[in-house]
Amino acid sequence: MGITKICCIGAGYVGGPTMAVIAQKCPHIQVTVVDLNTERIAAWNDADLSNIPIYEPGLDSIVGEARGRNLFFSTDVDKAIEEAQIIFISVNTPTKTYGKGKGMAADLKYIELCARQIARVAKDNKIVVEKSTLPVRTAEAIKSILDNTGNGVQFQILSNPEFLAEGTAVQDLLNPDRILIGGDATFEGQKAIQSLVDVYSNWVDTDKILTTNVWSSELSKLTANAFLAQRISSINAMSALCEKTGADVNEVAKAIGMDSRIGSKFLKASVGFGGSCFQKDILNLVYIAKSYGLNEVADYWEQVIIMNDHQKRRFSNKIVQTLYNTVSDKKIAFLGWAFKKDTNDTRESAAIYVADDLINEHANIAVYDPKVSSEKILNDLNYLETRSSVANASSITSFLNPYEACKNAHAIAILTEWDEFQTYDWQKIYNAMQKPAFIFDGRNLLNGAALREIGFVYQNIGS
Ligand code: NAD
Ligand code: UDX
Repeated sequence: MGITKICCIGAGYVGGPTMAVIAQKCPHIQVTVVDLNTERIAAWNDADLSNIPIYEPGLDSIVGEARGRNLFFSTDVDKAIEEAQIIFISVNTPTKTYGKGKGMAADLKYIELCARQIARVAKDNKIVVEKSTLPVRTAEAIKSILDNTGNGVQFQILSNPEFLAEGTAVQDLLNPDRILIGGDATFEGQKAIQSLVDVYSNWVDTDKILTTNVWSSELSKLTANAFLAQRISSINAMSALCEKTGADVNEVAKAIGMDSRIGSKFLKASVGFGGSCFQKDILNLVYIAKSYGLNEVADYWEQVIIMNDHQKRRFSNKIVQTLYNTVSDKKIAFLGWAFKKDTNDTRESAAIYVADDLINEHANIAVYDPKVSSEKILNDLNYLETRSSVANASSITSFLNPYEACKNAHAIAILTEWDEFQTYDWQKIYNAMQKPAFIFDGRNLLNGAALREIGFVYQNIGS
């Protein structure tokens, strides 16, 4: 069957950009992205493309090209489901915050709601695609709901995890390393796989489109994220050892990365990984392993998270220790709040945890981030529930100008690797700071030698 109508439930960081690229590359397919969040949908429909809810380089022009032609954003979920031949589920799957598996398992309530809604609405056969990252064997639960609460129509469930990284989402979607599609071995299952292969092959070479069984596909996504995060925790563990021994983590990373078996990517020591995926997906993996009684497997992967928490805490401790063991009433300027550059996403950003630690030590935090609003910064801190929102609001201030944020500060901490930080007039910043003026570079971003020349006390990660 030729696919002409696609629906995607969830207009978030994955659903929005992924569907925009599908619409751009497949003008013959009508793509409708739906969400319960009316504000988010209104923002996707904003005439001013600078107001679309997700900042990703290049995304505004793709949305601008396809929106209204074959790309639509709507809150009418039922209508979109009813019309579509393929329905992507791209809703959030956060860590559970209650009940069994609290703090570890993935919360699948949004997934189940989607499955029930699809079952209720669908009047003809549909292909349902898991785009969200899910525990292995979730397709079984989705199938059970669809088959038991549906209108007697046939559903094929595919797993098609998304591997894009934020900040490079558009490039990743246009030139993916691979597309992974898992489906049933049955004739109907293979037909469904082929329908989705046909969509992607409008712009992706077929030799990059990998088809597997459903469980391999579901588990590959968790595995990929676990391996990627493990590399960061591994190099961060070495950064601590470098600081004690006189080795330099950048030199170590380069030396090991030239071994083609190791490879050079994803070896950048940092203040710790953030983002909505790594921690959540590893905790989920740990929970799954435990639920099968595989305790050693669970412990092995949990260590990646333990190391990451340690790295964040190590950074805040270092700031306190270096500032003569007290930051009470001192102004610490944060450059960056997003979990990485080129995104306005702050979920699980290391900056949140470092700020929380320093506020516990009675520091005043001044934040500048080129893409993150003051409202979001305060919400992120409030979400931790360490103290009242009033206490948070009196301990943290956001600035629209980096020079203002750094004025009179005792120290600057670099939390995100935004390119623009490298272009600042650091002499001007130095002149307006308290002395000695400290910089703690949590991203090894700045030119330490040049900053020391100006007079800064400069410390980075891993040297
Ligand atoms: P998100 O929170 O940005 O977006 C999810 C959207 O789904 C929200 O706008 C929410 O309102 C909507 N939603 C929830 N339940 C709904 C329902 N029943 N009906 C309609 N809309 C509903 O999340 P995200 O970052 O896009 O992640 C989505 C999934 O993709 C997660 O499973 C995540 O693990 C996975 N993933 C994320 C990334 C990433 O970089 N963010 C990358 C790969 C995979
Ligand atoms: C990640 C995966 O890369 C992507 O494939 C998956 O689909 C979603 O999760 P994302 O979280 O968007 O993507 O960004 P990523 O580039 O992986 O960075 C995650 C965190 O690790 C960031 O905080 C980043 O700063 C940090 N990081 C990354 C390092 O500290 N060092 C590195 O070498 C790489």
